[in-house]
Amino acid sequence: MQNKARHIIEFETYADSSALSPADAALLEKARQTTTAAYAPYSRFRVAAAALLENGEVVTGTNQENASYPVGICAERTVLSVASGLYPGVAVVAIAVSYNNELAPSITPIAPCGICRQTLVEYEARYARPIRLILSGQTGEVIAMAKSGDLMPLSFSANSMK
Ligand code: THU
Repeated sequence: MQNKARHIIEFETYADSSALSPADAALLEKARQTTTAAYAPYSRFRVAAAALLENGEVVTGTNQENASYPVGICAERTVLSVASGLYPGVAVVAIAVSYNNELAPSITPIAPCGICRQTLVEYEARYARPIRLILSGQTGEVIAMAKSGDLMPLSFSANSMK
């Protein structure tokens, strides 16, 4: 017998940042501004992430590229490492991601890549707390979701090895 299962994810869409809560809007603004700090000489695609921690601190991270392209790291994983490096044991509550593409308008949201989704799932499990995601370009539409893990259905985790 064959059963079919369906994975449905829920996310919020906003025409622009003016409709966001003050907390989401502030975190997104921080991410938008931090794109100038990216090291992206190869792609010219500057990505920044701003993370709000449970202790109220906000930390930022950007993509860090490398002449050996696969060595580069995305903004999302950078900010998670910055967060747990500076504040070990403090949960990540929300992350805003923005970018500035030198080669095209930065007006639509981008979503984390597969490796970053896997990393976000690990951090949600590590702190037993969902991480809210707020995604947008420099202007325009914003996508937000309550749990990063929703982007990674059937993910591999510590439980998979039990
Ligand atoms: N990148 C990120 O930092 N985060 C994303 O969500 C997507 C892609 C980076 C990786 C690379 O440095 C550049 O953007 C182009 O892929």
